[in-house]
Amino acid sequence: MAHTIIFQPDGARAQCADGDTLLTVSGGAGIELETPCGGAGNCGKCLVRVENQAMSAITEPERESLSTEEIAMGFRLACQCRAHGDMTVFIPETSRQSRQIIVSDGRAVSGRLKPGLACLILKLDKPSLNDPRDDWQRLSEALAARDFYNIKIDYTALRQLPGALRAGAWTISVVLWQAREIIAVFPGEKEKIYGAAIDIGTTTLAGFLGDLTAGEIVAQAAAANSQVRFGDDVISRVSHCMMEDDGLERLNRAIIGDVNQLLERMRAKAGVDKGDVLDMTVVFNTVMHHIFLGIRPDWLGRAPFTAAVRGPLNIKARDVGLALATGAYLHCLPIEAGFVGADNVAVLLTQRAAIDDEQTTLVIDIGTNGEINLIGNGRVLAASCATGPAFEGAQIKHGMRAAPGAIEHLTIDPEQFAVTLATIGRENGVKARGICGSGIIDAVAELRKVGLLLADGRFNKEIDCPRLRLDEKGKYEFVLVWATESATGHDIALTQKDIRAIQLAKAALYAGARLLLRRMKRETIDRVILAGAFGSYIRVESALAIGLFPDCPVEQVEVVGNAAGVGARIALFDVDMRREAARLAAMAEFVETATDPDFQNAFASAMYFPPWPEAGAARGIL
Ligand code: FES
Repeated sequence: MAHTIIFQPDGARAQCADGDTLLTVSGGAGIELETPCGGAGNCGKCLVRVENQAMSAITEPERESLSTEEIAMGFRLACQCRAHGDMTVFIPETSRQSRQIIVSDGRAVSGRLKPGLACLILKLDKPSLNDPRDDWQRLSEALAARDFYNIKIDYTALRQLPGALRAGAWTISVVLWQAREIIAVFPGEKEKIYGAAIDIGTTTLAGFLGDLTAGEIVAQAAAANSQVRFGDDVISRVSHCMMEDDGLERLNRAIIGDVNQLLERMRAKAGVDKGDVLDMTVVFNTVMHHIFLGIRPDWLGRAPFTAAVRGPLNIKARDVGLALATGAYLHCLPIEAGFVGADNVAVLLTQRAAIDDEQTTLVIDIGTNGEINLIGNGRVLAASCATGPAFEGAQIKHGMRAAPGAIEHLTIDPEQFAVTLATIGRENGVKARGICGSGIIDAVAELRKVGLLLADGRFNKEIDCPRLRLDEKGKYEFVLVWATESATGHDIALTQKDIRAIQLAKAALYAGARLLLRRMKRETIDRVILAGAFGSYIRVESALAIGLFPDCPVEQVEVVGNAAGVGARIALFDVDMRREAARLAAMAEFVETATDPDFQNAFASAMYFPPWPEAGAARGIL
């Protein structure tokens, strides 16, 4: 005998044989339920509510999983409950399986679509003299009929409610945040809702606008952090807050303005209204986190580097001045400790599969601050390394950010010392104006390779090379581009001081990695992940040649781009990943490098460049 099962709120219908489980029938109707225990009846995830009695009796596993109240209300486990007649079955949002999606960043990253928002379309009864319930009561009761109880409503959404109900002829779309609060209402049937994921770096911002219904990015944009005018690095930003009366307000206004502009640009690109952007995740380092939220960062700058708050935060976006829908929440991913921020947690989200691996993976995120994680064997060790801004082209005589005119790669001919350049914008005839981080790393590696740079970082003046000369202060420098070839009409050179800045930066990363290895009681690294926008452009061979990190087979070094931005997007599309981020932040063991004697020793020896296999071998130079 066949039975008809109607699944609500979808309204999907399915026919089934007598005795089929509701799990089987729902699958046949295209509704996938959460089933971590595979239908054994012990995970309790396939919860549904049934409306009549044409079904099998409560099983033992259901007695274990469900409370007496739930049983009285008609809740059953879909894997246990068998149909013995026509039935109506309500499926709560929490029981539905989330969809797999691709969060793309040039390279594909797999994620799930399980946003923190649900957009419910409800048809309410029109009020009459016989039915004088108020609008909110009418809506609350319609929600309860869909198994949403004790729901709050944001004040701004409440103000919109009467108008929306009438404009939609009593059909209304309500946006429910984490099955707890209505944050927006729209007349009629709303098809799309959006969210934003923002990665706030000390120097740059990256933003992504996501369609939360389809699980895809519809626009992305990048911008400079305008706080740069108050200082290049986080320490100078903290000092500005401490020294100036309105320092924090000015920095806060700058970053909120930047994020709002970024949001506006993305919305304009995708044709999305401000009121339709209803969720946002944001990742940043700890100092940016505090300043963004208007929290004094003073105590982050001195031992014991205590943050005001480390856990994840859900804050009304309007409270921090963000131009999203008026009721929208902002989710800040948790920070780990001191200078290891939510951006690092976001990077860990993208690498979470490697944590339980027996192999040891070193994850390096090079920004203005270098953050490193050693993961594997069920552990996460994290450290922050004061690399300074040299890798971003700052504090380098002819350094510049990666922009048109920046030398991003180069090689040096070992015989004639001719320099072959790859400059950003060369395809449009742009000439070199300066050198950015990846170019600097190439330059140092190539100078080592041709024997012009000694292992201790000094130029090798024994070699007769026309490009190696004394500057006006009597210090050696290597001319990369002659004035006649440059866009500025001046020579572009790499100075002895520049080489020192690179040595300090790379020694900080290398020594940090060595310290983490020691703490994990490991000798070697099996895999290296280079994250960060800058990491994307580094030539891996050059990074190994200058000793940016401990030895690792070149084919085991992977460049993953802006992983913090990917992590922010994963958390935007999958609300469970916000909990996972909190778990990762809590399990990460923060290792303080600055005061550790092991670090100091490793740092001193890491100032040297590793022997280059070909390093001027012909010239007998190490
Ligand atoms: Fe686990 Fe039903 S699938 S209890």
